[in-house]
Amino acid sequence: MKKKIAVLPGDGIGPEVIKEAIKVCKAIGDKFKHEFLFNEGIVGAASIFKNGDPYPNETHNLCLDSDSVLFGAIGLPEFDNNPSAKVRPEQGLLKMRKKLGLFANIRPTFTFKSLVDNSPLKKNNIDGTDLIFVRELTGGIYFGKRGRKNKGNSAFDTCEYDRNEIIRLAKKGFEIAGKRKKKLCCVDKANVLETSRLWRETIQSMEKDYPSIEVSYELVDAVAMRLIQSPKNYDVLITENLFGDILTDEASVISGSMGLMPSASVGELNSLYEPIHGSFPEATGKNIANPLATILSAAMMFEMSFNLKLESDLIKNSVEKSIEEGFVTQDLSNGNLYYTTSEVGDKICDYIKSS
Ligand code: IPM
Ligand code: MG
Repeated sequence: MKKKIAVLPGDGIGPEVIKEAIKVCKAIGDKFKHEFLFNEGIVGAASIFKNGDPYPNETHNLCLDSDSVLFGAIGLPEFDNNPSAKVRPEQGLLKMRKKLGLFANIRPTFTFKSLVDNSPLKKNNIDGTDLIFVRELTGGIYFGKRGRKNKGNSAFDTCEYDRNEIIRLAKKGFEIAGKRKKKLCCVDKANVLETSRLWRETIQSMEKDYPSIEVSYELVDAVAMRLIQSPKNYDVLITENLFGDILTDEASVISGSMGLMPSASVGELNSLYEPIHGSFPEATGKNIANPLATILSAAMMFEMSFNLKLESDLIKNSVEKSIEEGFVTQDLSNGNLYYTTSEVGDKICDYIKSS
């Protein structure tokens, strides 16, 4: 198989973790005789410094011209600490999601047997968690009208959803649930918000088309609690953009580290794979960042975009092996011996080669 992969390393530790994911993709290519062509594009702060645009057209065209996109992370503290910055790296991410039509963000949460003690949550409650968030990614309050009034003393952000946006997202949720435990939880705030009532009404009207799926409707505040109390009760959760942003960070605590969880952002035509963690600027250039979330994102790419399940499983098993054998970065070491970002990447390639 021959595939073109656009690579957008971004800011902070993005380039370091992406480098390891590419190494792993190449090891898979060598083993299974696939040819992967990697073409790099700029995005985020790196791109603002170069041409003032966090997602320039040349990067957009590169993504359109590729079979898939592998993304690192964006964001720098000098922008976070400056609320009046005119352009911010995160705008690049939002513009990219919108222009590529990546309306569904798929974020799995799972545990590794040998890491359950890393989570601050009780082992019995979390061991064996296996759930997936399907977060709406191109609508809601992230993209609604916003601004200032009253000479700058009032500010507003608006949340708007259209029935079709809900239907296409919910379809993904039903389809994914159909291939798993057939449980779909719709997370909203229908006791207060009109958009949530439209979500609930729309999804209720779709239930008849998916008779084998058991659907539940839960309020986001309750889910925030139940998610860490009894995560094993969940299978697939679908929700709007902002709720999904918040709950998926919360859910990463179950796995024991933000540095472990991958994600896929998919649309009708394009898809992009990225770790759920941010750019971790304090660690930039130190070769200490955990590359596993990005490597696991590449595994998702093989399965979802290229339909290469064997290759994807080999990456996942190699990651699991490196964790079990203690070849991990500092964040997962529990005070034991730890390895650099590139050593962990090398180890995973060795497992791939020798299996
Ligand atoms: C995420 C991130 C982004 C989001 C930020 C960086 C804009 O937190 O992908 O979850 O809020 O969607
Ligand atoms: Mg987030």
